[in-house]
Amino acid sequence: MKKLFLIGKSLKHSISPFVHNKILSELGIDAVYSNVELSDFVKLKEFVEMVRKDKDVIGFNITIPYKEDILEFCDEVSEDVRIIKAANTVKKEEGKLLAYNTDWIGFKKSLEDIGVDVKDKKILVLGSGGAAKACIYGLYRMGAKEVFVANRTYEKAERLREVFQDILKILPVEWLRRYEFKYDIIINTTSVGMYPNIESSPFDFENYVAGIPVFVYDMIYNPPKTTFLEKAEKKGSKTENGLKMLVYQAVEAEKIWFDIVNLSPSFLLEILKECE
Ligand code: ATR
Repeated sequence: MKKLFLIGKSLKHSISPFVHNKILSELGIDAVYSNVELSDFVKLKEFVEMVRKDKDVIGFNITIPYKEDILEFCDEVSEDVRIIKAANTVKKEEGKLLAYNTDWIGFKKSLEDIGVDVKDKKILVLGSGGAAKACIYGLYRMGAKEVFVANRTYEKAERLREVFQDILKILPVEWLRRYEFKYDIIINTTSVGMYPNIESSPFDFENYVAGIPVFVYDMIYNPPKTTFLEKAEKKGSKTENGLKMLVYQAVEAEKIWFDIVNLSPSFLLEILKECE
């Protein structure tokens, strides 16, 4: 039986094994997807050594905090990974480890599904970590020319200016000044509001008077409705959580590992329902 893994530091609440094993069984692929918690960089190195030796390993996914660290062990990276320097998918091919990023594709597809157009919109991204980079790259691929970025640590938002300098304009916003401007779209890529800290929110819509955003997105899917989305909805914004992004990035990873993956829209809907 072939093997696939998700690696990360804390994976107790991850629904990725459920999603991937469901896809594998739907496709009739004899493989199993399981979680491997790695406590530190040394363990990450050992995991990669194991992957290189074990002929049954097809590839693996990477989550917090190893999306950038993993690149040190990869032999080749895709064009998007070269820009954003973060990978969530690795495929083993002829002994080589190839790094990909399917997060941004999952994000882009989840927006396209609900007909959100980002062109010429004033967009605010909250956060500046790996999730923010995937989000911004996805926005670029959807036609955005500039993105405002607010981050608690301002320097990290500023650094994104260099990361994206060849493809789109980053406008860093100081965290305390994020309420001063009016935005059409606000996207949360921080972990603020994630289970179990469900009361917290990275943006206080109740005290935001600059305007009502048309669309508000939260990459968090647990809980399905964060305080951030709940308050945005109360103001009248259309909202979306990170569940579709999670399922779509998983499908894209399967496409990379197994070349052709055709899944019906009804099957995807079924997965989404079961994840809710
Ligand atoms: P990921 O890969 O998921 O993006 P990350 O690289 O650890 O994870 O980034 C987490 C993001 O959430 C960062 O933008 C972080 O802000 P800092 O750069 O200032 O650390 C943001 N974040 C985490 N906790 C936060 C909090 N309590 N308030 C505001 N931002 C927070």
